[in-house]
Amino acid sequence: MRQIVIGNWKMNGNLALVEAMAREVYARVASLACDLVLCPPATLIAPLAAALPGIALGGQDCHARPAGAHTGDIAAVMLREAGASHVILGHSERRADHGESDAAVCAKAVAARGAGLRPIVCVGEGEGARAEGRAEAVVLGQLAASLPDDFATDPAGIVAYEPVWAIGSGRTPTPDEIVAMHGAIRAALRARFGGAADAVPILYGGSVKPGNAGAVLTLPEVGGALVGGASLVAGDFLAIADAAPALGRAPGRG
Ligand code: 13P
Repeated sequence: MRQIVIGNWKMNGNLALVEAMAREVYARVASLACDLVLCPPATLIAPLAAALPGIALGGQDCHARPAGAHTGDIAAVMLREAGASHVILGHSERRADHGESDAAVCAKAVAARGAGLRPIVCVGEGEGARAEGRAEAVVLGQLAASLPDDFATDPAGIVAYEPVWAIGSGRTPTPDEIVAMHGAIRAALRARFGGAADAVPILYGGSVKPGNAGAVLTLPEVGGALVGGASLVAGDFLAIADAAPALGRAPGRG
């Protein structure tokens, strides 16, 4: 499987960034060893699709329902119509800022798949849980309740492991901690979905930068990266993409 490097612009960016990104990324896309996905604010999906036809685009959230009286929300089918093929769901910032439960994330994943979007479901422990030795229990609990039963069915969804304390902090887990968590996630996916689980890429996210991307992306069971701040600078985003190994490692614990 080719690795996937996903940029999450969060609530950042404008038309000037769309143009700058398109200019720098367009020429490089075809020669990259990994697949790129950019997830800008929803209003920038259509302009980015027009300016940068070579890469996949995603939303950062969607509602569980296809339409209705939900002021301020956006439906999966609307993201699809704007040009998205993916959607990030259950990011820790949405879990914290909007009180999104695992059940809500699961319902959104069902809606996303129904609209033809590939869900990128985020899981990750807080600093306290890691300190108390509960990181794996927290992450596997989120995983079990956030993924719908058809998550691994073609086209399979994507899981992103993002420790909350590593996001925007410049801190990352040790390589051993990443390998252990990705291995535990893979084992849980296999226990639930059987052989189909191996079609689910497990991405790492949290302070991925050009300087550490190579070390992260070559770890066993790391199928790519979910990048926040560094995805707002085309050169940094491309440098991270350049660090992806030419062929992703076969799924397995080591
Ligand atoms: P940073 O790369 O800025 O730490 O953000 C990670 C993230 O939250 C991506 O979804």
